Amino acid sequence: MKIISKPLELKKYLKDEEKSIGFVPTMGALHEGHISLIKRARGETEIVIVSIFVNPKQFSKDEDFSKYPKKDEADTKICEMSGVDILFFPNAKDIYGCDEVSLLAPNIRGFVLEGLTRPTHFNGVLTVVMKLLNIVSPTKAYFGKKDAQQFNLINLMVKQLFMSVEIIGVETVRESDGLALSSRNVYLSKKERRESLKISSSLYLAGNLIVKNILDVDTIKEQMQKILAPLEIFYVEILNRNFEIIKEVEVGNSIVLVEVKVGNTRLLDNIWL
Ligand code: PAJ
Repeated sequence: MKIISKPLELKKYLKDEEKSIGFVPTMGALHEGHISLIKRARGETEIVIVSIFVNPKQFSKDEDFSKYPKKDEADTKICEMSGVDILFFPNAKDIYGCDEVSLLAPNIRGFVLEGLTRPTHFNGVLTVVMKLLNIVSPTKAYFGKKDAQQFNLINLMVKQLFMSVEIIGVETVRESDGLALSSRNVYLSKKERRESLKISSSLYLAGNLIVKNILDVDTIKEQMQKILAPLEIFYVEILNRNFEIIKEVEVGNSIVLVEVKVGNTRLLDNIWL
């Protein structure tokens, strides 16, 4: 596995590459969720590139940027063992200049759900993903459906800016008890870890109601909120896959989304139904 930290060096290295390239952007502290993206890329493309970059621009001042978990050595091993060809490990000063050109998330879809309480977050995500995609020029880039709004906005960016990369969405990997894997789960105390199971329970409840043909969005949200009640709820929402508000669940075209705060940790999850 080759490790490259300079964007222009990576661009030069890939300049005459004719093989298909699969790209997995991450912020490190890699877990099975990230590994499933890497494996999918390994199965579908000839060269697999993973980036590890904790992007300062997607954290607001009061968020966890400085204490975001860093596991460089373990991450490098995981990439090696997962068959990654190139690990791209840039520094912030090589990604960002001082008088920056940056992207703005769309006014509606970028500022609802997670964007409502984190108004600069998706500007930062889109700007860094655009930069990373321009450095790597991949055939396919892989993103988790767990971050459904991020996935939706990246698809929108690629479509609206006429970019040629194919964006692939990968299913959420969970612990055996249902908690979606996240680099932030390490912040949870034992008690918070138990409380966090309310998230997946509320999503499973939504799934069960829908199977019973209870499709009214308000009724489902009410039931979910009862399960989540002890936690600080940022949102419980049911949207169609274009992220539009619906009154009735459209089976095969809906996403149930939850974001809560457990202790000091924001956790989000969703199911696609
Ligand atoms: P990060 O949180 O490290 O996640 C990297 C990728 O892994 C994202 O596409 C995310 O959706 C996916 N992922 C995380 N947990 C997952 C799980 N349990 N199952 C499946 N996939 C999962 O998301 C980011 O980094 C950043 O915002 C980034 C896109 C790298 C831009 O900075």
